[in-house]
Amino acid sequence: MDNANPAPLTARRTGPLKGRAQVPGDKSISQRALILGALAEGETRITGLLESGDVHSTAGALRGFGAGLEQQAPGRWTVRGTGVGNWKQPAQPLDFGNSGTGSRLVMGAMATTPITAVFTGDASLRSRPMARVLDPLKVFGTRYEGQGPRALMPVAVHGAADAPAADAIVATASAQVKSAMLLAALNARGVSRIAQGTLTRDHSERMLAGFGARIAVTRDGEGEVIAIEGPARLTGCAVEVPRDPSSAAFPLVAALIVPGSEIELPGILLNARRTGLITTLLEMGARIEIANRRVSGGEEIGDLVVRHSELTGVDVPPDRAPSMIDEYPILAVAAAFAKGATAMRGLEELRVKESDRLAAVAEGLERNGVRHAIKGDDLLVEGGAVPGGGTVPTHMDHRIAMSFLTMGLASRKPVTVDDVAMIATSFPEYQDLMRALGAVMEAP
Ligand code: S3P
Repeated sequence: MDNANPAPLTARRTGPLKGRAQVPGDKSISQRALILGALAEGETRITGLLESGDVHSTAGALRGFGAGLEQQAPGRWTVRGTGVGNWKQPAQPLDFGNSGTGSRLVMGAMATTPITAVFTGDASLRSRPMARVLDPLKVFGTRYEGQGPRALMPVAVHGAADAPAADAIVATASAQVKSAMLLAALNARGVSRIAQGTLTRDHSERMLAGFGARIAVTRDGEGEVIAIEGPARLTGCAVEVPRDPSSAAFPLVAALIVPGSEIELPGILLNARRTGLITTLLEMGARIEIANRRVSGGEEIGDLVVRHSELTGVDVPPDRAPSMIDEYPILAVAAAFAKGATAMRGLEELRVKESDRLAAVAEGLERNGVRHAIKGDDLLVEGGAVPGGGTVPTHMDHRIAMSFLTMGLASRKPVTVDDVAMIATSFPEYQDLMRALGAVMEAP
């Protein structure tokens, strides 16, 4: 563990949650806005940027490549880019903290520029496989040296000179891997075709088009092929970041399970590749209303009204996983309060997140008396009254921490998480926001 002074927190059963909560900007879009801004010519002006540990780690690394990034006010940043292919070699190793997305996308973004950069991070990030991104990048001529067969950090990446365009199939159901390939293709000669058999989040594709890249997406069976032309000229532009549905998921599920609750979550990103949790909760009987659907910054957004609901267990199919990949821990908590069993299928990707999330969720359920089983890559949760009373190891994983704090708001006995420090990587306002809605969270 990197964190020598863990900060445990206990959540207790509370009265109804009430009010309007403005969750922060989307993490995926914030990361991409900084990275594309740093690759573009001219100035990119960003509003609504997520001010969190992960995003700040990426900002620091991009300065190392020669881009100018300045915070004008909280959430309002300007980025002065270098132009594609003009990143300079960083003088120091780049520390990405806890950020898998930041580090992997930047690996792609530098993969076809002939410079070397060393990538490192915290104990959680240093345990995560980088080979899933770096091996596919070899088609562009990119080379690397990492630790062991999974290419753990620290990793040295050597960008390719004069890279040819590539045709590649991304075998992993990962938006990070797909995005790294697209960013590498920006400085390759000719049209690259990047195919993926599942529909992972498409924020890179949308934003690349907004920055002026020549990019075209065609559906292909269950998946799609993205054609992108290099060398690309990206032009700095204005980016409005919508509010993060993966962060909204925590107050949303809290309102569903705490009796009498009614909350509003305005301006939430509703890109169809991110809304698997809402789809699933609606199937479970959740009272979620979506009002005022509109488009902002090239993405669909809307205002959510969420009321306490009697939930029923459902079977969540594996093909829904890409659209709710970060939401399984909080869905497992909702399932624990539902009537009957919930099956969540096809969760193999959860094993390589900020922690082994399948194991971490099972451990948290176990410690709080929730019946469950892992069968292969499926998680089965038996719902009902949740005893609580356990202390949950968070394994440096922000979403494990927020999920089990949510559980404590409605379980019979309080739930403690061993360390809340990592919540700041994605949602620094979490505790204040939850308390303003009426949640009771205090030091144990
Ligand atoms: C992300 C993609 C997902 C997700 C992560 C953010 C992104 O990871 O878990 O939090 O911004 O592209 P994978 O690509 O590994 O599925």
